[in-house]
Amino acid sequence: MMSDAKTPVLLLAIETTCDETGAAVLEGTGDPRDVPTIRSSVVSSQIDLHERFGGVVPEIAARAHVRQIMPVIDEALRRANVSLDQVGAVAVATRPGLVGALIVGLTAAKALALALDVPLVTVDHLEGHLYACQLAFPDREVYPCVGLVVSGGHTHLFVCRGPLEVEQLGGTIDDAAGEAFDKVASLLGLGYPGGPLIEKIARNGNPKAYRFPRSFLHDDRIAFSFSGLKTAVLYAIKGQDGKNDAVSLTEQAQADVAASFQEAVVDALIGKTRQALRNTGLKRLGIGGGVAANGRLREKLEQMAKRERIELFIPPMALCTDNAAMAGVALIKLARGETADFDVDVIPGLVRPGRTNG
Ligand code: KG4
Ligand code: ZN
Repeated sequence: MMSDAKTPVLLLAIETTCDETGAAVLEGTGDPRDVPTIRSSVVSSQIDLHERFGGVVPEIAARAHVRQIMPVIDEALRRANVSLDQVGAVAVATRPGLVGALIVGLTAAKALALALDVPLVTVDHLEGHLYACQLAFPDREVYPCVGLVVSGGHTHLFVCRGPLEVEQLGGTIDDAAGEAFDKVASLLGLGYPGGPLIEKIARNGNPKAYRFPRSFLHDDRIAFSFSGLKTAVLYAIKGQDGKNDAVSLTEQAQADVAASFQEAVVDALIGKTRQALRNTGLKRLGIGGGVAANGRLREKLEQMAKRERIELFIPPMALCTDNAAMAGVALIKLARGETADFDVDVIPGLVRPGRTNG
């Protein structure tokens, strides 16, 4: 179905790819030059449910989405002052993510689109993370840009010719950067999620105290690896004989480990991002994902952007972490007539199979 590009549509967007249940209402025409307005965006976080496991437990995430999805949608509609019969289309992120979690969002989206007799549009979660930059800076031209998505589930670089023309340049071959923060925090006995806790104690630490590995830094490939770094931190804490534990480290030694680890992650992210910018010749950089909260990463991104004369886009945190507003990229698909059939399925893996699934 082709919508009239001039008529604004009220879009109900749904996000359940990982451990945040999100719903948002956006209004826009789908003209790429016309950035939609976010009428509401509601996120219900599951952090408290996963905290004691030190990471996201997929089955718990899926069950929590089942409980939260309808109340979150109701709240998004209420805050937007929009009734269901005003909704002109339903969008949902169907890839990549945890399979059980994705299915909850897609099922809700299908049911609503069917009941309301409006188009269903599926979106890519990573395209959404990068489109969040455009939503956050509606008066600026974000595309074409290099995109860096760095979260608990992803650490990937993209070349983004447009909101829907996003191609992966490379990414992590093992852990995501956020996952590494979470695991190192757990080794240090700090709690979950680890990123903010590591950042806090790192402020009192010496980033040069330990020389941790920065994988691929002297390699042409656009790739990241954080599992060797994690092992190096493990040995730094436990000693080569594995006898120490974090508790036996002095407070200063813990801060030094945290600061040196954080510096290694940030160096890897900055190094590869700079390489992606130089390789592509692009002069804009968009950031997405929860690790963008990290102050040291922001500081070094800003320094690099200044040196390389790059325009840097870091959305406010509510648009960096998982949210449904970023699925507003669906309005562009809707205007192009790229709606999904009701037999559309989720695609959990990160493999980007092209646009064969709506
Ligand atoms: O995007 P996000 O909220 O959720 C997904 O992973 O999809 O990102 C969460 C990740 C966690 O791994 C968390 O430890 C990390 O982002 N994070 C941080 C900081 N705040 C959150 N990592 C480093 N420094 C931070 N300040
Ligand atoms: Zn995400």
